[in-house]
Amino acid sequence: MEKLNLLYEGKAKRVYTTADPKHYIVSYKDDATAFNGEKKGTILGKGVVNNRMSNIMCRMLAENGIETHLVEELNDRETVVKAVEIVPLEVIIRNTAAGSFSKRFGVEEGTELKNPTIEFCLKDDALGDPMINDHHILALGIATKEELETMTAMTFKINELLRAHFDKIGVKLIDFKIELGRVDGRIILADEISPDTCRFWDKETNKKLDKDRFRRDLGGVEEVYQEMLKRVTE
Ligand code: C5P
Repeated sequence: MEKLNLLYEGKAKRVYTTADPKHYIVSYKDDATAFNGEKKGTILGKGVVNNRMSNIMCRMLAENGIETHLVEELNDRETVVKAVEIVPLEVIIRNTAAGSFSKRFGVEEGTELKNPTIEFCLKDDALGDPMINDHHILALGIATKEELETMTAMTFKINELLRAHFDKIGVKLIDFKIELGRVDGRIILADEISPDTCRFWDKETNKKLDKDRFRRDLGGVEEVYQEMLKRVTE
């Protein structure tokens, strides 16, 4: 399958149409941004890590009953995915306090939450992706009640599957963000699962193995991306 036209260019990937209207090709870049585009940089090899790792995780999730956009990995950076209508929400699950949650509620990073929690943010760069609640989502017609229930249950199930999987490779899943899409009336996972979109801490040392190293200038950014790919492939 070949790329036809550039449909969308995001901060970390490009999406192309193909001759088949049911399929797109996603191409992962090494470009990195943080703080809504204020900080920019390059993480060498990131596109390859995110592409390969996401596909491994999508396969694992599919084996456990979660439908994903993955169709076929074309090469190190490119994957054929199902063409979906993206629901314009970022769905975030948190198992441990970190990042904006810690700041917002004054809870120390690393504090275990009594139960996993979910947040929705409206995908809108100009507005800075504001947090939005279930009632707002329904009021604005962003999703139906049934879709919202499906998205919520699906995201919690994805959390349980990912947590168990990462635990086996010595990684604590602190939190993550996903986007979901509609295809033929169904809601499916339509996003990457990578160090760009998840917080991963080493189980023994709490070393950060994710994009926080870039966001916070902690150094060793490329190394931890490679480390995560190595752990999920071994
Ligand atoms: O910054 P915050 O603590 O809200 O991020 C929560 C989780 O969502 C983190 O794993 C982060 O990597 C992810 N995230 C993302 N894309 C965004 C915002 C957050 O992947 N635009």
